[in-house]
Amino acid sequence: MSSADQTRRLALAAAGLALVSVPALAADDQGKGPGQEKATPAVEDLMREHGVLRRALLVYSEIAARLAPGGPKVDPRPLNQTARLFRAFGEDYHERKLEEVHICPVVRRARGPAAAYPDVLTVQHNRGREITDYVIAVTRDGTLAASDAEVLARALNRFVLMYENHAAREDTIVFPAWKLALSDRQIEALGDQFEDIEEQQFGHDGFEDAVRQIGDIERAYGFSDIGQFTAPPPRR
Ligand SMILES: [Fe+2]
Ligand SMILES: [Fe+2]
Repeated sequence: MSSADQTRRLALAAAGLALVSVPALAADDQGKGPGQEKATPAVEDLMREHGVLRRALLVYSEIAARLAPGGPKVDPRPLNQTARLFRAFGEDYHERKLEEVHICPVVRRARGPAAAYPDVLTVQHNRGREITDYVIAVTRDGTLAASDAEVLARALNRFVLMYENHAAREDTIVFPAWKLALSDRQIEALGDQFEDIEEQQFGHDGFEDAVRQIGDIERAYGFSDIGQFTAPPPRR
């Protein structure tokens, strides 16, 4: 065993991990550092975009609960930013530039069980845009009229229910059907094309920027510590 391997084994043991032999990584196998580019496969790209959108949905859920009568006062500005992020990253890019152009037509043509999905997914994209318009309108100018709170809370909750179902079906039914309908080479080429579209749309790494934005929104509402969401033990 080389001295490098021995050092690695000692480090693992010190960390309380199982003592297993970890071969040294070849230069090509090593990960990239911060700021370095690494290609993202097309389906992973779509699913990590859902991750950003799901974080926006979590903001909507939490804020909808706070908007209940007698709840704490809600600063509407981060909510407005969330809706604008959903518009730019979710609706104008992920849905309009990727799914509606590159995913739905392929899944429709493949005629498998997933072919029934694109129609309803498109209806839901359009309904989502109506709701986003509404959220942006009622939180415009950093204010929220008390008379809008109840309707806004209901709209947010219905949007969350719709989009959680929507993204979960895409992740587990539609994207796998899309991947199956295309060759590995086509999928790889589309991964590159998606990165070009992202560059054209945002002029920079849209995903990293969206992650930064949703992180700022979570911080503004006090949601950034994930530990606060750890469920309590069940009561018997
Ligand atoms: Fe979609
Ligand atoms: Fe999607």
